[in-house]
Amino acid sequence: MRRPAPRLEYYVPQNGGSVADFGECARRGLRGPKKSLDPRFLYDERGSEIFERICSLPEYYLTRAETEILERAGAELASMLPPRCRLIELGSGSSTKTRIILERMNESQGAVTYSPIDVSRALEGASRELLESYEWLSIVGVEDTYESGLRLAHSACGGPALIAFLGSSIGNLTGSAARSFLSTVASVMGPGDLLLVGVDLDKPESALVPAYDDAAGVTAEFNLNLLHRINSELGSSIDVSKFAHHVVYNAGERRIEMYLRSLEGQEIEVCGSRIGLRRGELVLTEYSHKYTREGIESMVSSAGLRVARTWHDSARRYALVLCSGA
Ligand code: AVJ
Repeated sequence: MRRPAPRLEYYVPQNGGSVADFGECARRGLRGPKKSLDPRFLYDERGSEIFERICSLPEYYLTRAETEILERAGAELASMLPPRCRLIELGSGSSTKTRIILERMNESQGAVTYSPIDVSRALEGASRELLESYEWLSIVGVEDTYESGLRLAHSACGGPALIAFLGSSIGNLTGSAARSFLSTVASVMGPGDLLLVGVDLDKPESALVPAYDDAAGVTAEFNLNLLHRINSELGSSIDVSKFAHHVVYNAGERRIEMYLRSLEGQEIEVCGSRIGLRRGELVLTEYSHKYTREGIESMVSSAGLRVARTWHDSARRYALVLCSGA
């Protein structure tokens, strides 16, 4: 454990935690007939910067909707928390949203302990900025994946916790993976702990596709950055101009699917493996699942949790769901 500042503690698992090896994952994902790259690799330093730009795009309503809900319902949320509750956040997220929650918690309970869990090193810089703004804040961060980081953060300090999983990140997971992820979170939760999940609601394709295929091409840049990352980190020499950003809405599965589409037949090399791509062949880079109200209810209950309260934005595009142990 390192102690960079008195109110800041950081756990970095010695073995690198469960942080997956980019090269090995990329090689494995590209080998088979159905090619994919894990969406978590979209967020290197440049990817995270591009994602911040996505969040303020006119077409990308998700961040604005979630922020609107937190601004309107933050005080009510804080009033539902047990005394001396800490905030554990899966993914350090945009600090704007975290700040709203922390400020409302401070107003209702005074001092607050915040545990961000993220695989990214960027976590520490963001934490220092928070500490500079709030003298009532202590931070116990964990640099690891959500599941193993959550166990560590939860056992690291006692007392009840609000676990926040914002930004519709749950949408990256397929139905069964989302249920099993929430079950894991539920198994860590003690009595009195609450879980706050941001969920994007299903809506017409005409509103969804532009949010993932914006006019300014920022999301395309975000997606194609994965190839730049493979080139710079894994020593490949992929010609990125031979790929295009490709987005479809799969209505049957209620999800946006983001792909890199090979514009011609080509061969690339990743970590010693030669990979042939046909013209038009797709490499899946992200799913973003959209939920109905019934879908949220059944996902939450099948994980052994109960919906305590749901808030929507004024346009009802997005939901913030507060869950308790069943
Ligand atoms: C951060 C996973 C919630 O799915 O909306 C935004 C990522 N990808 N534009 C989403 C994303 C393309 C985003 N999540």
